[in-house]
Amino acid sequence: MSKQITKTVLITGSSTGIGRETALYFQKKGWNVAATMRTPSKETVLNKLENTIVPSLDVMDSKSIREAIQLTISKFGKIDAIVNNAGYGLVGPFEGASETQIKKQYDTNVFGLMNVTREMLPHFRTNKNGVFVNVASMGGRLVFPYYSLYHGTKWAVEGFTEALRFELEPLGIRVKIVEPGAIKTDFYDRSMENTVATSPVDYKMLCDKAFAKYEKSSAGATLPEKVAKVIFKAADDGSKKLRYPVGPDAKSLLFLRNLLPDGMYAKMIKLALL
Ligand SMILES: NC(=O)c1ccc[n+]([C@@H]2O[C@H](COP(=O)([O-])OP(=O)(O)OC[C@H]3O[C@@H](n4cnc5c(N)ncnc54)[C@H](OP(=O)(O)O)[C@@H]3O)[C@@H](O)[C@H]2O)c1
Repeated sequence: MSKQITKTVLITGSSTGIGRETALYFQKKGWNVAATMRTPSKETVLNKLENTIVPSLDVMDSKSIREAIQLTISKFGKIDAIVNNAGYGLVGPFEGASETQIKKQYDTNVFGLMNVTREMLPHFRTNKNGVFVNVASMGGRLVFPYYSLYHGTKWAVEGFTEALRFELEPLGIRVKIVEPGAIKTDFYDRSMENTVATSPVDYKMLCDKAFAKYEKSSAGATLPEKVAKVIFKAADDGSKKLRYPVGPDAKSLLFLRNLLPDGMYAKMIKLALL
């Protein structure tokens, strides 16, 4: 009987939330896991698991990306899947955002993901095999008020990934887009940057109203374990399926967004949130 070869995944942003649950789930499923994060020195659980390493990786630092990839290949022999998960939300009125904040948002969510992808491509191309699972958002195909900058990054991830499919598929490399709805993680607390305080007062009333409504609806958010399972399926199902929405909100809202003309969608969102 032929011995089953263990597969290896490298995940970005594994310190908390979706990335962390994804690392735990792949490990449970018997994969080798490189659970990368910016500060591995703080990790106390993942680094004690079998077949798991915790390399340092900041998506804005190409050297750290190269070193994490090399470390993973030297430990496990090869990499079969990349989960481009690292990211955060810069929200609030656009006018209140500084150039530095905007740049960091795109550097992390878009150029960071592209950096990891570019550094990984030679390995996948040589192996004629590999899958990129890019964590976008339902907000990569629809929009909410006061999320313009975050949406810009996730729409970029969607367009980039969908277009990349044509040039990578003939090389044996697959791309996947996972689109979570609202998920219970540090996204809305520790990780989020909000421009309300630095925005002109004219925005305040409507913006506060929208965020109060977001807060209320966050009670029904999906657990990150659910996203981890979908990410695993995307990496492991061997299919050419491109998009994987996660959570009842993502599924229903994306369905409506596809159905409704722009004006009707805007009306629905204004009624619900403003
Ligand atoms: N939660 C949601 O409702 C939701 C919905 C749709 C999509 N998403 C997407 O899901 C992904 C994961 O978010 P989450 O919900 O799990 O939030 P989270 O718990 O805040 O996790 C974000 C992760 O990204 C990491 N990160 C941030 N900047 C980084 C950088 N420059 N290099 C490497 N890692 C970096 C963070 O690391 P540190 O610990 O070092 O900060 C953390 O590990 C993000 O791309 C987010 O946009 C989330």
